[in-house]
Order: sequence, then structure tokens, then C-alpha cells
Amino acid sequence: MTHTLTGMTAVVTGAGSGIGRATAHAFADRGANVLAVGRTREKLVATAGDRSSIVPLSADVTGRTSPTAIIEAALETFGGIDVLVHSAGSLRRTPLGTICADDFDRFMAVNLRAPLLLTQAAMAPLTRSRGTIVNVSASFGQRGWPGLSLYGAAKAGLDCFTRTWAGELADRGIRVVSVAPGPVETPILENNALDDRAVTTIHRLHELLPLARLGSAEEVAWWIVNFAEPLAAYTTGAILPVDGGYGAV
Ligand SMILES: NC(=O)c1ccc[n+]([C@@H]2O[C@H](COP(=O)([O-])OP(=O)(O)OC[C@H]3O[C@@H](n4cnc5c(N)ncnc54)[C@H](OP(=O)(O)O)[C@@H]3O)[C@@H](O)[C@H]2O)c1
Repeated sequence: MTHTLTGMTAVVTGAGSGIGRATAHAFADRGANVLAVGRTREKLVATAGDRSSIVPLSADVTGRTSPTAIIEAALETFGGIDVLVHSAGSLRRTPLGTICADDFDRFMAVNLRAPLLLTQAAMAPLTRSRGTIVNVSASFGQRGWPGLSLYGAAKAGLDCFTRTWAGELADRGIRVVSVAPGPVETPILENNALDDRAVTTIHRLHELLPLARLGSAEEVAWWIVNFAEPLAAYTTGAILPVDGGYGAV
């Protein structure tokens, strides 16, 4: 194991499972400290396991005071922030004709508003560290997918944040990228009120991919962590598909 990120601190939302958990592990295994954020404490404690450099913080990223509380916790615990990874997200089927205003607000609050407000809260420490922001978007944001219009719109919005913030934050030395996964085997497919048909469709989507399989959380996390490496310093505003070729066909 090479400790190329020793001394760095990563704040990872959605770190209680899936891609966020794999990202927390990957940062810790390269020597970084990690503030692991999510709503369910037991899941975060399980993410930390015996890695003492991962510190759990229970917080709902959509809470009014959460952005400030999360950033203050990172500064108090580790003294700075070098990387901010927005992996918290939720997936739900929202066919056109069934969506009410509250659904829209709840959905956008976690998938789009939370990354925006947490990024704003982190601007000063990220400026001091000349840090990196990684938005976990989705290949669904780049193509239409029946029943997932809100999810796709939120993820397309996140990619727009990436491109726009890259320009807005470059003079502070902050880089911004999206990692856009295709179908990845994580609890999101079971936890988020997708109906059986949608789950089956997503699980079978891999049959249509050039690489003909689902991805793993570790394969997504590897890219997220590499964007924090010094040799990624010339990359900003990029949207990287990690999708088995979904976007290419
Ligand atoms: N898996 C895929 O196929 C796939 C494909 C494309 C994109 N993505 C994206 O990848 C990201 C990670 O998803 P995943 O696949 O790793 O799913 P996951 O295992 O369900 O992880 C999502 C995490 O977000 C946390 N979370 C949800 N709402 C939250 C809130 N309001 N505040 C704080 N934490 C919250 C959840 O924990 P708590 O419930 O304990 O808070 C959960 O641990 C998401 O943004 C997702 O949209 C996934």
C-alpha cells in the first residue's frame, strides 16, 4: 500500500455504504484522514472498522445547519480539508405524472442542493489547501432513462456544477471533477423505493454494456481518490464516466 496522501483530509458524504464507503477506505489506505458523513451512525462505524483515520459523523446533508456543522467538525478534528467528495444520494422511480412538489424538493435537496451548500461552506478551507471537489454524478445524467427523470436531472445539474465551479474556483487553486458511474452493485438499488421492474432493468442493464457486467464500488472509488493525487493537478471541469462503456454505445 503506498501512502501517497499522508497528511491530507477528505470529507466524504454518503460514507456509510457503497461508493462512499469504498472511497473512505481508499483514502484511508493511502494515508489520508477521512470524515465519514451519513445519517446512520452504525453504518459509519462499520465503515471505519479498525481504520483509526476514519472518523464517523452522523449528519443529514439536507439539514439547514448541516453544511456548517460538517465543515466545522472536519476542521476541529483534522485542522483542514483537502478533498470534498459528494457521494450521498438517493435513487427513486419518479414517472412523469406522479411527481408532486414535495417529491421534487426532497429529491433535489439531497442530490443537488446539499452538494451546493456543502461546497459553499467548504470554500475557505479548500482555498487554503488548494483542494479538490469530486461530485459523484451518474451516467443516467447524460442520457434519458424512463422513470428516472428527477434523478437524471439532478445528476445532469451536478455535472453542470462541476463545469461551472471549475471555472469559478480555478483562481483559488481548487479543482472540481465529476465521477459519473454506470450501474454499480451497491445498496442504492435495493434501498430506495425502486419497484421490482426498475431494479430488474438496472441489474440487467449490464447485458447491454460493452464490458457486460456491473461495476464495483471500489472501481469507482479508485478514480475518485486518484483525482486527489498531485499528478491530477492539470485536470479540472472533467466528467469521467466509470460505466462499463454505457455512454459510448
Ligand atoms: N450504484 C449505482 O449504480 C450508482 C450509479 C450512478 C451514480 N451513483 C451515485 O453514487 C452515489 C453513491 O451511491 P451508492 O451507489 O454508493 O449508494 P448507497 O450505498 O445507497 O450510498 C448512498 C449513501 O448516501 C447516504 N445518504 C442518503 N441520503 C443522505 C442524507 N440526506 N444525508 C446524508 N447521507 C445520506 C446513505 O446513508 P444513510 O441512509 O445512512 O444516510 C448511503 O450510505 C450516489 O450519489 C448515487 O446517486 C450510484
